[in-house]
Amino acid sequence: MKYRNIIVGVTGGIAAYKTCTLVSSLKKQGHTVHVLMSANAQKFVSPLTFQTLSGQKVYTDMFSTDYEPDVHHISLAKEADLFVIAPASADVIAKIANGIADDMLTTTFLASRCEKLLVPAMNTGMLDNPATQRNLEICRNDGIHILESDSGYLACGDTGRGRMPEAEEIEDAIKMYLCTDRPLTGRKILITAGPTRESIDPVRYITNHSSGKMGYALARAARNAGADVTLINGPVALQPLYGVSTVSVESADEMYQAVMNHYEKNDTVIMAAAVADYRPALVNTQKIKKEDGDLSLTLMRTPDILKEVSSHRKAGQTIIGFAMETEDLLNNARKKCIEKNCDYIIANSISEKGAGFQGDTNIVTIISKDATVSLPLLSKDEAAVQILKHCLSGKKGSKC
Ligand code: CTP
Repeated sequence: MKYRNIIVGVTGGIAAYKTCTLVSSLKKQGHTVHVLMSANAQKFVSPLTFQTLSGQKVYTDMFSTDYEPDVHHISLAKEADLFVIAPASADVIAKIANGIADDMLTTTFLASRCEKLLVPAMNTGMLDNPATQRNLEICRNDGIHILESDSGYLACGDTGRGRMPEAEEIEDAIKMYLCTDRPLTGRKILITAGPTRESIDPVRYITNHSSGKMGYALARAARNAGADVTLINGPVALQPLYGVSTVSVESADEMYQAVMNHYEKNDTVIMAAAVADYRPALVNTQKIKKEDGDLSLTLMRTPDILKEVSSHRKAGQTIIGFAMETEDLLNNARKKCIEKNCDYIIANSISEKGAGFQGDTNIVTIISKDATVSLPLLSKDEAAVQILKHCLSGKKGSKC
């Protein structure tokens, strides 16, 4: 991604403190960040804070003579690649919906032709008010993107909808709009991620160490490249992905059902999930009490989802599996590719430093009938981009 010009508008709301993290992170990534603050925003966070974090003058006043002569709302608007308002108060949403431009922030917003994103944050009553909902709908119809509020504890003491999503989630949405190269536009991709969880009783379960990070990285990369992405994830502790239709499941059986319900509508299926191969034959309805001596559990096989999808594949569908091995990586992965009738298998080994579960990096080898391509140690995000480029750049995969 190129370094871009981002305007961050801040309006009056306690969530403005989270915008500090957002601005700092965007700046660290090399983007130029101009912060525009409403008068009320300055009551929550000082312009000096944003000036220090962004390394740029903060614009608050339309008519200040402190700015360079060539800096005004029109020049800022022209240079912007993306304009995000976070937090967006009910007041600024109402103004934007009605084309009101009465300060530096709203005039610049009105003059901007770039992608625009509003991140509403307010009390649940204000958010649910028909006027606010009507104004948000007007904004949507005008092509302005809205990042939905989270639910939870609000600063006013209420619990409900209206919390501003964390900076990481806002940044994820920003990244999506900053990507202008969208080679996967028109493609529909189903991706699975994370572990599955197989219940033993109401207290205990069997699972594995998968974090879901590789599957999420693939979903993010596919979304940024313009694909319509459906993500089916097992239990993970990751931020939801903006712009990705997500189905959360727990067990292998639930994942199987979800994949079967969705795979036909997709031209590509990527099974990055670490699906449990076995589940307890019986799930106790009550907690199993300990007794003297050992306990044996009878485990039964779960469906092999990847194999099932491959055997029912539609014409033209590309099927990509993963192989996680501790020994003889390439031979085992090649065998899986053939047995599961995939177009590609992405082999990774947990024995290699920097690869495998939990971490943010991976070392993968892309295996198909014709070729074996080894990638170096990469961040999972970069590995995901390379996998998609290799497997989906126009040509359909050749089955193993
Ligand atoms: N997979 C699946 N359903 C299962 C098990 C695995 O769809 N019940 C998929 C995984 O999502 C992955 C591929 O099959 O894409 C290989 O998974 P892996 O765990 O490496 O291998 P297994 O098939 O489970 O075989 P083994 O555990 O014997 O290595």
